[in-house]
Amino acid sequence: MESRGGFRDGLPPRQLGRLSVRDLPLVTIRDLAVSFDGAPALNGISLNIGMGEALGMVGESGCGKSVTWLAALGLLPAKARVLGSVKLAGQELVGARPETLDKVRGGRVAMIFQDPASSLNPVHRIGRQIEEALRLHRNLRGAAARAEAKRLLDQVGIPDAGRRLDAFPHELSGGQNQRVMIAIALAGQPELLVADEPTTALDVTIQAQILELLQEIRRDTGMALVLISHDLGVVAETCERVCVMYAGRIVEEAPVARLFEGPAHPYAQGLLNALPPITGPRRPLAAIPGNVPEPWNMPRGCAFGPRCAHHHAACDAGIPAARQLGAGHRAACLLAAQPAQVVMEHA
Ligand SMILES: Nc1ncnc2c1ncn2[C@@H]1O[C@H](COP(=O)(O)OP(=O)(O)O)[C@@H](O)[C@H]1O
Ligand SMILES: [Mg+2]
Repeated sequence: MESRGGFRDGLPPRQLGRLSVRDLPLVTIRDLAVSFDGAPALNGISLNIGMGEALGMVGESGCGKSVTWLAALGLLPAKARVLGSVKLAGQELVGARPETLDKVRGGRVAMIFQDPASSLNPVHRIGRQIEEALRLHRNLRGAAARAEAKRLLDQVGIPDAGRRLDAFPHELSGGQNQRVMIAIALAGQPELLVADEPTTALDVTIQAQILELLQEIRRDTGMALVLISHDLGVVAETCERVCVMYAGRIVEEAPVARLFEGPAHPYAQGLLNALPPITGPRRPLAAIPGNVPEPWNMPRGCAFGPRCAHHHAACDAGIPAARQLGAGHRAACLLAAQPAQVVMEHA
């Protein structure tokens, strides 16, 4: 593997996967805040992602999951005001020069989105699109690029890869196009892949296959993964640690097993209760009543207050600070010291 600086210098990815280096931060986010026209979409986001780690980010639509990573990679429109710090192996990305960000995006950090059809160019053959990424990020051209594009298509599980290089996106299924997007993401040999709702547009069987593929790639390359999903079930299967977002803030962060055993924030409890049980009788899903507030219409104090069954007067006094509840477990709720009992049939 070529050297790119940072912690990965000189270590082939396979070896990296076996070393216990997850405590080394690959990405360090501190007090990241984003506002659009004065309305706060994101506030006080602080987060570490270790090398090779898989972190899930969950929360309902509009909670700030995508904006976190669009801000981190300099992909928000100019009207967005971004404050705070995002460091990739020590290098500051907030306010970085466009040339720096161009190198990071698709190179050290790749991103895939929900709808592969809108990310792929419909008029170019998929081989050409993978080769373009190889030229940009690894300076490969001609036969070498062609051979590597074929290897990547193979790696992401597209049958008959050599022939498929000449297909147009519309000739492939949604699941196959998502595999092509993953191949393009891998073309730059990223240290981190941010997958934003990568399986939301796919049916359940294909969804499971894509998640399995992401796991396989992590095992093979030692790449870190941020998996964004509104579905806690998807994150629980794929990630080691999960970060629950609500109304532009992180309300709880915990190792996956710990979150399932004892979610501390009523919002996390609500998300867990809304999961279908894996075993036992089917029961109606307990959706959380109400909606995520809009950035320009935030309630006073805890933003979850109006939807919270445990809401009391003190919750309106201010935004609750995050409390440490154990190793790697924190929650921003005044009740967090005494996690409420919830029925965990699916855990
Ligand atoms: N380009 C934008 N202009 C204005 N508001 C935006 C823009 N992008 C996102 N937002 C707002 O920021 C908030 C967080 O959005 P987002 O990160 O997309 O949510 P999620 O990914 O969790 O569904 C939402 O209230 C959304 O309306
Ligand atoms: Mg989103």
